[in-house]
Amino acid sequence: MPIIAPSLLAADFSNLRQEMSAVVEAPWLHLDVMDGHFVPNISFGMPVIKALRPHSQAKFDVHLMIDPVDPYLEATAKAGADHITVHVEGNAHLHRTLQTIHALGCKAGVAICPATPPEALSEVMDLVDIILVMTVNPGFGGQKFLHGQPAKIRTLAEMIRRSGRDITLGVDGGIDETTTPLVTEAGATMLVAGSAIFGKGDRKAAIEGMRAVARPARRA
Ligand code: DX5
Ligand code: ZN
Repeated sequence: MPIIAPSLLAADFSNLRQEMSAVVEAPWLHLDVMDGHFVPNISFGMPVIKALRPHSQAKFDVHLMIDPVDPYLEATAKAGADHITVHVEGNAHLHRTLQTIHALGCKAGVAICPATPPEALSEVMDLVDIILVMTVNPGFGGQKFLHGQPAKIRTLAEMIRRSGRDITLGVDGGIDETTTPLVTEAGATMLVAGSAIFGKGDRKAAIEGMRAVARPARRA
């Protein structure tokens, strides 16, 4: 059964506390921080995450779409992140970033954009806890799933098997009841979903609907 991580980006920003309580059955909550520079959009930052922290039991899965990222890792951990995911793109010292995240007591994630090949992660397999395959170009919710990405999910699933480590393989962007079967069959073990959950009236039913269509991983 894949982990479902509702993305708060698609929630009603005037009512975030209530929105979090509508998705309590999900073990993770995905929080997208955008800077208007690494991605062409600005969302919310650490003060908002900090304010939400006492009102949720979920693991806070923070996806940083910011450049530079290193100066903000400590603030992200202090705001209450359990997982901090950074992008592989443009990070010349990714080992240092991942080591810093671990030193702050968080799980370390690496996100990979659609145009970046899976091999970009080959040298960090010993350090990464979560790999997040972007199935859209990051920056906005509600975009269309890019159908070339399941091949990359398969390659990364194989790289994870070879590493022998317990690495969560997440997908982010355009994940709904139609695309869930494709990505879970390719090996995804964690599904981020914004519009497919917060865009629906009944969020609980939306989460259950995604779980119901997940498929066992099938090696190519
Ligand atoms: C996009 C963000 C996603 C976003 C996904 O850059 O990283 O987490 O919220 O939204 P949907 O599920 O609507 O594609
Ligand atoms: Zn995200």
